[in-house]
Amino acid sequence: MSMNNSKKKINKPNGQLTVFIPGIGAVSTTFMAGVELIRKGLRQPVGSLTQIGTIRLGKRTEKRSPLIKDFVPLADVDDLKFAGWDIFGGTAFDAAKKAGVLNDDDLALTKPFLQEVDAMPAVFEQKYVKRLRPKVTKKAKSKMELVEKLREDIKTTMAKHGSSRGVMVWCGSTETYIEESDVHQSMKNFEKGLAKSDTRIAPSMIYAYAAMKEGLPFANGAPNLTVDVPAMTALAKEQGVPIAGKDFKTGQTLLKTVLAPMLKARMLGLNGWFSTNILGNQDGEVLDEPGSFKTKEVSKLSVLEHILQPELYPELYSNYYHKVRINYYPPRGDNKESWDNIDIFGWLGYPMQIKVNFLCRDSILAAPVLLDLVLFLDLAQRSGLSGIQEWLSFYFKSPMCAPEVYPEHDLFIQMTKLKNYLRYLMGEKLITHLGVEYYPKDPVDK
Ligand SMILES: NC(=O)c1ccc[n+]([C@@H]2O[C@H](COP(=O)([O-])OP(=O)(O)OC[C@H]3O[C@@H](n4cnc5c(N)ncnc54)[C@H](O)[C@@H]3O)[C@@H](O)[C@H]2O)c1
Repeated sequence: MSMNNSKKKINKPNGQLTVFIPGIGAVSTTFMAGVELIRKGLRQPVGSLTQIGTIRLGKRTEKRSPLIKDFVPLADVDDLKFAGWDIFGGTAFDAAKKAGVLNDDDLALTKPFLQEVDAMPAVFEQKYVKRLRPKVTKKAKSKMELVEKLREDIKTTMAKHGSSRGVMVWCGSTETYIEESDVHQSMKNFEKGLAKSDTRIAPSMIYAYAAMKEGLPFANGAPNLTVDVPAMTALAKEQGVPIAGKDFKTGQTLLKTVLAPMLKARMLGLNGWFSTNILGNQDGEVLDEPGSFKTKEVSKLSVLEHILQPELYPELYSNYYHKVRINYYPPRGDNKESWDNIDIFGWLGYPMQIKVNFLCRDSILAAPVLLDLVLFLDLAQRSGLSGIQEWLSFYFKSPMCAPEVYPEHDLFIQMTKLKNYLRYLMGEKLITHLGVEYYPKDPVDK
């Protein structure tokens, strides 16, 4: 990859783009309905960087800050088509109604549109999501045959939509905790595993494999391993498709990745960080089961360790207690409430506390993240990028990265990385925030 400032060749976003979604649930239906309301001009795309975010170009004195969507050639929301799979069958309208995120007005306005999206029969294995009982699943002799069926679904849908491009984003339930093993180490092992229906190959991996084989970029909105294993990252390079993950960064962790960098920036110490949540939607129900919770817990816990770097600051961060809890509490539905109690210490070791109480809406926070990921992954694909897209770390709780580096969790470093990546693609100067150009030269600069 050369670092010169020439614009990269990016194919134009001509025609339709189909968004394939395993998991027609709260997040995906809120996203689809939102896109429809936005393109009809009935709602604003609040929360979406691709739709309302700007990017500064050149010096501050140049006053050039175009909208991101005017700067990079993104697909238009008018050109998005939707398709997906679910274990409950029915349409996206049925799922949106059940999810209970959208109010009656928004549901009524989007009903005809959501009814057009029929959930296709899912690839499912009970041991991966113990709390849900499937109604409509694909039957096949082997996991490889399931791949073939998904690839057929993808091809048929693209033909029906008249799309030449697609993107897949996993919005299915959080799968049970598994660790990387030999079957995930190489494509040879993985494909053998598919043929033998190896139980260590999760349904989300089957979708991701099918997507990549069809040349579609893939992102993982949940914390399951899915494409974050050597076999899959190698396949992404081989197939020339961009991938990203894992676990949308939306609520409590979003706040954590803003607050923790502040503590580190000011060299304030940490004794403990207790995070708890109450959540009453189906995601909460699935996460109430220990195997799925473990997957989410690992994702949520990793953040502080990486941001605070205890190996560099042992006097501040080598001894803190970090706990994350998710409590399933049905009356709250999708309106999650989180509390954080943060025990910190300052000058001379004097203790202080920070309390955070976030009354959020899970799917309302996740939908714009999903929209941005779809559009940026499609841009990446048209720019000829493949493999892990670290510049999309901004959107994830456990950002995927090259094996030799640690993930970047600080939200504002992630944002700088993302915007510089866009400048890099478009041949604009990267912004270092050095600022010497605005002041008379000192002798040292001459
Ligand atoms: N909302 C957020 O803020 C947020 C943030 C980070 C991650 N997530 C993750 O996003 C995912 C979706 O969240 P949600 O609130 O929409 O959950 P949801 O339960 O409403 O939707 C998930 C859907 O996936 C379906 N499903 C499960 N296994 C499947 C399979 N193998 N194939 C096809 N469909 C399958 C379920 O039937 C369900 O309809 C969850 O994994 C969640 O942890 C959400």
